[in-house]
Amino acid sequence: MDKNNSPKTSSEKNRLAELPALKGIEIRTDPESLAEYGKDWTKHFTANASAVLLPKSTEEVKTIVNWARRTRTALVPSGGRTGLSAGAYATQQEVVVSLQKMNRILELDAFDQTLRCDAGVVTEQVQKYAREHGFYYPVDFASRGSSQIGGNVATNAGGIKVIRYGLTRQWVAGLKVVTGRGDILELNKSLVKNATGYDLRQLFIGSEGTLGVVTEVTVALAKPPKEFVVFVMGLNDLEAVMEIYAQFKSQFTIFAYEMFTDVALKYTTAHGARPPFSTAAKYFVLIELERESDEYIEQATELFGQLLEEGLVVDGVISQSPKQAAELWALREDITEATSHKQPYKNDISVRVSRVPEFLNEMTAVLAGEHPEFEVVWFGHIGDGNLHVNILKPDNLSSNEFVERCHHVDEKMFRMIEKFEGSVSAEHGVGLVKKPFLHYSRSAEEIQLMKEIKRVFDPDHILNPGKMFD
Ligand code: MLT
Ligand code: ZN
Repeated sequence: MDKNNSPKTSSEKNRLAELPALKGIEIRTDPESLAEYGKDWTKHFTANASAVLLPKSTEEVKTIVNWARRTRTALVPSGGRTGLSAGAYATQQEVVVSLQKMNRILELDAFDQTLRCDAGVVTEQVQKYAREHGFYYPVDFASRGSSQIGGNVATNAGGIKVIRYGLTRQWVAGLKVVTGRGDILELNKSLVKNATGYDLRQLFIGSEGTLGVVTEVTVALAKPPKEFVVFVMGLNDLEAVMEIYAQFKSQFTIFAYEMFTDVALKYTTAHGARPPFSTAAKYFVLIELERESDEYIEQATELFGQLLEEGLVVDGVISQSPKQAAELWALREDITEATSHKQPYKNDISVRVSRVPEFLNEMTAVLAGEHPEFEVVWFGHIGDGNLHVNILKPDNLSSNEFVERCHHVDEKMFRMIEKFEGSVSAEHGVGLVKKPFLHYSRSAEEIQLMKEIKRVFDPDHILNPGKMFD
């Protein structure tokens, strides 16, 4: 062991020579697999994995963990690799453990309203299966078609319906995990009530693969909502974003309240989305409601009319069908893809909902004053205080220079976050990206306790070492 208790991650010939000891477990070491599985959707990092393992069962994961302990090999647990904090990157010759081959839906219990599946099942498949059986899995986000349920658990995925349904944390009824000690734990066993001490299940949710490998997940299911109706409104004043939210919130159950700017719209429409209306506006909000009844939607339409009359809203549109609702959602959900060619430097901070405009105004002023060279795309889940700040790379800057300047922005922004008592990561997680900034949101005592907790579950420091903290 080296002095910081880390396993050696350099390419030791003997270590990989032991791989055949993992008999039956698929091993890939070809350059394409190493490049593909060694990274996630985060930009500005370089993949450097030494091997990829694709277990097919919890027992095989246990075999891998025990082998890693014996050989002091660093493992990177890997789901759909849609993360944006480099939590699933292998940058130090680690061995990637992909859950991709563990992709069976195991059981849907209609009475208990739970669905049990392997960790490698794609989120959208869980959603579809639940729908086909008369239920609803409500955690939802743009990367649903690629992300895996185990990764959602590891990152406590949030997304677009948090204000109505909460985060992944609220929907995990049970977990099977292999800890860094090689123990298989079955946590909570789908119980609704369970008052038997520390809830280790919750500890694993959001642990980013640093405590164990999640191999099986049982999620709770909801009753399916009725048809969704989407309102998109244009406005020119940031304060109006909150005023509209307050008015809708006081009368209706809102499923999603999202915001994006005219800059974001420029990119999504260039990418193929249809503009919502022709009137120009600086900000756009998207509100999703359930068609509880036609009268309910009429009332909401009346409120929208009032806001137009009052001048809070400059224009707007209401979906008349699920197809139109999906088209309107594309204006928001396609932002990531539409800006991806600009190699955005991403942030996903949060502040208390009521303080969003104040924070946005202060931060916009800092960015405009100190970095006028940057085009910044703001969007986010404004209803829960989560803002995505995407800085687009100017063509004339090298990648390194760009990232360096963005780090300067980070320092400013996170100091401001500390002042606002917000979070440096609302939903993307810490990974490698937020590691240097964790102290802006968590106290030294908290970080020390987290490190001690890791040591209990992963005494040999083999699970995703270097992520979240050193
Ligand atoms: C989103 O809300 O679209 C995601 O968190 C992705 C992103 O920030 O790009
Ligand atoms: Zn998001």
